[in-house]
Amino acid sequence: MTGLTLRAVEQRDVERVGDLNFVAFYRVALAHGLQPGIASPAESRGYIRHLLTIDPLGGTLAEDEGEVVGLAWVHPRGPVATIGPIAVDPRVQGRGIGRRLLERAVELAGRGVPQVRLVHESFNGQALGLYLHAGFRVVAPLLDLELPAGTAVAPAPAPRTVVVRPAVADDRARLVARDARVFGAPRPQNVDLYLGRGRALVAESPTALVGYALGIGFRGTGYLGSASADDPALLLALVVALAAELASHGVTVRTLVPATDRRLVEGLTAAGFRVFRACHYMVRGGGTAPPANYVLMNGDMM
Ligand SMILES: CC(C)(COP(=O)(O)OP(=O)(O)OC[C@H]1O[C@@H](n2cnc3c(N)ncnc32)[C@H](O)[C@@H]1OP(=O)(O)O)[C@@H](O)C(=O)NCCC(=O)NCCS
Repeated sequence: MTGLTLRAVEQRDVERVGDLNFVAFYRVALAHGLQPGIASPAESRGYIRHLLTIDPLGGTLAEDEGEVVGLAWVHPRGPVATIGPIAVDPRVQGRGIGRRLLERAVELAGRGVPQVRLVHESFNGQALGLYLHAGFRVVAPLLDLELPAGTAVAPAPAPRTVVVRPAVADDRARLVARDARVFGAPRPQNVDLYLGRGRALVAESPTALVGYALGIGFRGTGYLGSASADDPALLLALVVALAAELASHGVTVRTLVPATDRRLVEGLTAAGFRVFRACHYMVRGGGTAPPANYVLMNGDMM
């Protein structure tokens, strides 16, 4: 490890960064006897391409003598920034590269940003040590739940006064505002991705937006969230309805929910979801647990 340098990730780096990201996460999952969250190098490269589109300035790579040995990505959204993925080549882990990448990601989040968040897999002691040393604290347990493709899902009833329908272009401003309330900052570029390429449901009573759910299919997996509602029964109805829709298209559905929301967890397991993995929601700065009646957005946008 002679001359480690950090620089921004560019289009030309997609393959090398994608492959490194795949190998690092694959290795750690396998070492714990678990299924990896990213199934193939191709999926990992696709994800890096997506990150370059949505946060072109957020990627940092670590290079040693021309070889890519690490990566980190930050997603600045005004007063909130989220971090992920962060990965180091298994051959050079434990030498301080992860720590330098995390420091750079926090720097890129912006000086004085009140909250930097990340989600990490609870089994991963190495990552937890890294984050605790960098001033992150665990503020909530999360469950990453999975619904097998093709599961026939029984609908959960929505309150009778509410109308649930697919979102249309005119709903965009209200959706962005509603999502900002629960996330803590507007993230129109993320909401647009779901509106353009995914599925979105809105709930109105009678004309006020009282809930929504977003979902998207990506290489055989459907990611469900964010979603939020004024009422826990409505949240469950929205999430189950969208899960049923995604599952009927032959994808396995994943969703990230606060483990402490007993009603939501029970409702989703009754609908056929099972635990894929347990995660920690970690915050640096003045952050608290996610708000009530909220399902987090996947893809490092927690
Ligand atoms: C997590 C990861 C990025 C860390 O990168 P790294 O280069 O190995 O980490 P570093 O060498 O910079 O170690 C940073 C800190 O982690 C902590 N750490 C490392 N190994 C640890 C262990 N086995 N137990 C507890 N803490 C540990 C230490 O606090 C260390 O700081 P130190 O200087 O006080 O020893 C790397 O292990 C990785 O790529 N893992 C697979 C992908 C992954 O899990 N990413 C994070 C998902 S949220």
